Amino acid sequence: MSSINYADKIPNNVNLSEDRTLQRALEHWQPNYLQWWRDMGPEGSHDYEVYLRTAVSVDPQGWAQFGYVRMPEYRWGIFLNPPEPGRKIHFGDHLGEDVWQEVPGEHRANLRRIIVTQGDTEPASVEQQRHLGLTCPSQYDLRNLFQVNVEEGRHLWAMVYLLHKYFGRDGREEAEALLERRSGDRDNPRILGAFNEKTPDWLSFYMFTYFTDRDGKFQLCALAESGFDPLARTTRFMLTEEAHHMFVGESGVARVIQRTCEVMNQLKTDEPDKVRAAGVIDLPTIQRYLNFHFSVTIDLFGADQSSNAATFYSSGLKGRFEEGKRNDDHRLQHDTYRILDVVDGRLVEKEVPMLNALNEVLRDDYIKDSIGGVERWNRIIEKAGIPFRLQVPHKAFNRRIGTLAGVKVSPDGRVVSDAEWNAHVGEWLPTEEDRAFVASLMGRVVEPGKFANWIAPPVMGINRQPVNFEYVRFN
Ligand SMILES: [Fe+2]
Ligand SMILES: [Fe+2]
Repeated sequence: MSSINYADKIPNNVNLSEDRTLQRALEHWQPNYLQWWRDMGPEGSHDYEVYLRTAVSVDPQGWAQFGYVRMPEYRWGIFLNPPEPGRKIHFGDHLGEDVWQEVPGEHRANLRRIIVTQGDTEPASVEQQRHLGLTCPSQYDLRNLFQVNVEEGRHLWAMVYLLHKYFGRDGREEAEALLERRSGDRDNPRILGAFNEKTPDWLSFYMFTYFTDRDGKFQLCALAESGFDPLARTTRFMLTEEAHHMFVGESGVARVIQRTCEVMNQLKTDEPDKVRAAGVIDLPTIQRYLNFHFSVTIDLFGADQSSNAATFYSSGLKGRFEEGKRNDDHRLQHDTYRILDVVDGRLVEKEVPMLNALNEVLRDDYIKDSIGGVERWNRIIEKAGIPFRLQVPHKAFNRRIGTLAGVKVSPDGRVVSDAEWNAHVGEWLPTEEDRAFVASLMGRVVEPGKFANWIAPPVMGINRQPVNFEYVRFN
């Protein structure tokens, strides 16, 4: 392994071959990464040739190449968007100063923590999804799963590059630890809650890529504003790949709904039992999965009041979503924001200093964005003439983090007693039985152009290939 020419082996636009120390550090890390991929990457996939896109530059016109790749040989590259000449920090206490090309000493610990937390989510999702290939509904979907997986691997590389280049020995230790934690492990779990949940079936996978990869988008957008320029530039490029992940989620759920509606209309029924008996997923179960993934994901934004969030912003490390498009003073010292509080067992709004509420600001931006796709799912149901609407639950529903963790709230936003919660939780969140039913549908379909009964084919293939293209060659 040590004789690999990294200048050739790792596609990059950071002049890797000119920085011998960095090159050596990555040389030590790469075999461990590959071992992690073999142990924790997609199960049984290592000999498959998969029609994948690989990032080869940051040119918006042609940043990726498509071709067959064995995944352990995927060329995980390091790409940063080009620097913007004269870029200034545009929020917080350092507003108007030049962006940093090196880590400022006083912000080092916080920056490291931000990068490690982001980096940890990338391998975590690969681990969560590692068994899904065994039950894929089609080759097309299998390929999309693998595409998401290799790109999450590349996102790990993106964060590890920053740790190695800018954080010295601490950074190298953190990079090793990123390969040692395991999703769901009792002793050494991943850092954030949602990344320790299981992704046991494909409905969960689509919900995860719709909702949780979208959390990724919002975190990356906030980091793309950072005064630490290398972080801003690398996250900006990661967003290019993230769009496809959310597409996989949105179109995946859409195709499940499409198929369910077809069967409901054929059978002229809306009874979940009859719909299930026909081998498709009933709409109330889809709603419960949605409730679960939405609520678990919005916890990822953190506590509704957070002094860390204020520090990250004021010190110029992490901005707001679309910071540059906002018309305020970008310091926020005199602004307030409304968050939810619980008073006498009721939800009430409370005004707090905005700086402390920046997690909530980002969460609310996220919620607005995620509602769009749910509306598009509803249009499919509407077109089929079925009187059912999917809804995102109230943001206080099923929360584990922040003020709302202490109360039980129904999906429509009523604080409920423990008794009422227990009586209805089976209507609100996936039950064991729901999960067992969904699991029972998961068989492996791998003939080109064939799809499992519970999901409609996509409208188009990948990279203008036909839907029945051979996306995976099994060897
Ligand atoms: Fe990612
Ligand atoms: Fe992603």
